[in-house]
Amino acid sequence: MRLLVVSILLCALSPVDGITAHPDMSKTLRDIEKIASGDDDVELIGDIIDRGQTAVGKTVADILRERQPAQHFGPKYPPPGPPGSRECNADPCCVWAHVSNALTALFLERDGQCNDNARAAVRAGFHDAATWHKGLGFGGADGSLALSPFEIHRIENNGLEDIVYKLKDLREMFNVGMADMFQFAATHAAVSCPLGPRIRVFVGRKDSDRTPPIGLIPTPFATADRIIRFFRNKTIPPQDLVALLGAHTVSKQFFVNLKRAGAPQDSTPGVWDVLYYKQTLGENLQPEVFRFQSDINVSKDRRTEEKFRDFAGRQSQERWNEDYARAYLRLSLLGVDNINSLTECTQALPDQRREFAVSDPVDAENAPASE
Ligand code: HEM
Repeated sequence: MRLLVVSILLCALSPVDGITAHPDMSKTLRDIEKIASGDDDVELIGDIIDRGQTAVGKTVADILRERQPAQHFGPKYPPPGPPGSRECNADPCCVWAHVSNALTALFLERDGQCNDNARAAVRAGFHDAATWHKGLGFGGADGSLALSPFEIHRIENNGLEDIVYKLKDLREMFNVGMADMFQFAATHAAVSCPLGPRIRVFVGRKDSDRTPPIGLIPTPFATADRIIRFFRNKTIPPQDLVALLGAHTVSKQFFVNLKRAGAPQDSTPGVWDVLYYKQTLGENLQPEVFRFQSDINVSKDRRTEEKFRDFAGRQSQERWNEDYARAYLRLSLLGVDNINSLTECTQALPDQRREFAVSDPVDAENAPASE
């Protein structure tokens, strides 16, 4: 019956010989064809390219295809026992609840804002995962940023040494995987920052010490064209790229301009807010803010400008958080070929902190209402 309706609609909308179709019509036809085939535009990855074989594989595929939320707001669960105990060993997420306690101590300032360790952990998660592109066959979220003897010493990883060694120590202390530690820590750091998303987190990746090829991390001077191509090659479309760049809301630069070491990319680097989007566009720009040329380039490109302005607009915090969560989940699984056998451990993350006194009046409109 559904096929019949679709066929009738297709006939009704098909351009008749000699009559030019309205430009919007081809889009409508494509949409209908997509519905008819049950297909969508979303590119899947690794071993869930067929939308998953197991419950967890199907869940991840559903999240990437926007059929399930990418965040979960349940409370953190009490781990069933101390680390190493029989009760804890019987539950694959228990150890992560203990890792989570250690990360909270590492990532938070006394005033509740997230600190230099948290921002470095978000960047480390990106740098470990992004060393992958379609057809490479290795690399990605595999822990090599810490396990390869060479990768951490590359110029694009300047400033990441300290957090990499700290996370490596924690990984040894809790006997967990390095690849998982990077992605759990990056996800944990985001939710540790006031207003940050509570991204669903999966563990069970394989570790590798194989050094990935050079040139897979973009530079802060790259053109929008190059950056969009870079990310597309990692299955990340332009709108997800814009969502991911928002991580620069908690960022500080040390090596792009040495004279301004420590300069943030928005005025509130301890808060996961949307001020980065506004200030990158030049709105309410403050002298302490240092904008990356690459971010400015993306904010002005015809393929990404609209999304950039959308996140800079009114009431965009929740929208951006969900888009970031979905895009980050994809990033955190690049190069992972056993997604079907991962375990979801979102319950090991701290609660989201939706309340924070936003001092910037321009941003106040985006602050979620107090509960
Ligand atoms: C076009 C893509 C990107 C470029 C060119 C870029 C470039 C940079 C540069 C140059 C820095 C400063 C490093 C320093 O001087 O200390 C930085 C910091 C940072 N980046 Fe990116 N980045 C990109 C995408 C991303 C993405 C996708 C994420 C996360 C999802 C991310 C998260 C961060 C964070 C959190 C920091 C702050 C690190 C700290 O303060 O220690 N970046 N980025």
